[in-house]
Amino acid sequence: MSDSQVLPTREGYDRWAATYDTMGNWLIELEEPEVYRVLGDVADSDVLDVGAGTGRHAIRLAEQGARVTALDFSEEMLARARAKPGADRVRWLAHDFARPLPFSRHSFDRVLSALVLEHIPGDRLVAFFRELGRVTRDDGVVVVTAMHPAMFLKGVSANFRDESGEIRPRSYTATLSDYVMGAVRAGFVLGDLAEVSVDSGLAARNERSRKWLGWPALVVMTLRRAPG
Ligand SMILES: C[S@@+](CC[C@H](N)C(=O)[O-])C[C@H]1O[C@@H](n2cnc3c(N)ncnc32)[C@H](O)[C@@H]1O
Repeated sequence: MSDSQVLPTREGYDRWAATYDTMGNWLIELEEPEVYRVLGDVADSDVLDVGAGTGRHAIRLAEQGARVTALDFSEEMLARARAKPGADRVRWLAHDFARPLPFSRHSFDRVLSALVLEHIPGDRLVAFFRELGRVTRDDGVVVVTAMHPAMFLKGVSANFRDESGEIRPRSYTATLSDYVMGAVRAGFVLGDLAEVSVDSGLAARNERSRKWLGWPALVVMTLRRAPG
């Protein structure tokens, strides 16, 4: 898009933080029920939220009785998260997952990566998944949601508008097999893969989703560590 400005990912999210929760993001609306469906009961479990942003998942999971650790490299996104009611139940850490995750192996029962994958360069995908696997317990579950690569074919990536126009925190185009094989090469078994499209209910509620009616907009992967 001609008036679109691409910013380094962290800077982009630092700028987006002020409006991230209030802009009426239809992808989030599509994603939330999927995440809670696949995560199941998290009470009394150790949960890691990787790329937690303003904490919508982390705080809710903590309210459901999980011990939640949440990571992000955007200080502004984290500041929004920390200011929310219930945030004191979550351990928040600033961390760039270009570096190894700051936890010993097998630390978590559930690991969630929500709408982060498009910001991982293609040549880092396997390393990213490998880190998720390293910190997950043998019987643990990793849930990864991402904008569906079919959206990239339409020129869409994470974006918002401010007074200067449209801003895109840097994203990396990928295919669905890049995501799936990235996880498999990192030692995961694919438990479930859902490709979720905008349905008529969402289209009726959220005008901006309407032009994507019927189009795959979201991927949800449920991963388990391969035995051995
Ligand atoms: C679309 S937001 C999703 C936030 C939250 N998971 C949610 O679903 O609302 C993507 C988040 O990933 C974070 N992120 C992207 N690349 C990162 C990296 N290399 N290290 C840490 N956080 C990163 C961004 O700062 C941003 O908060």
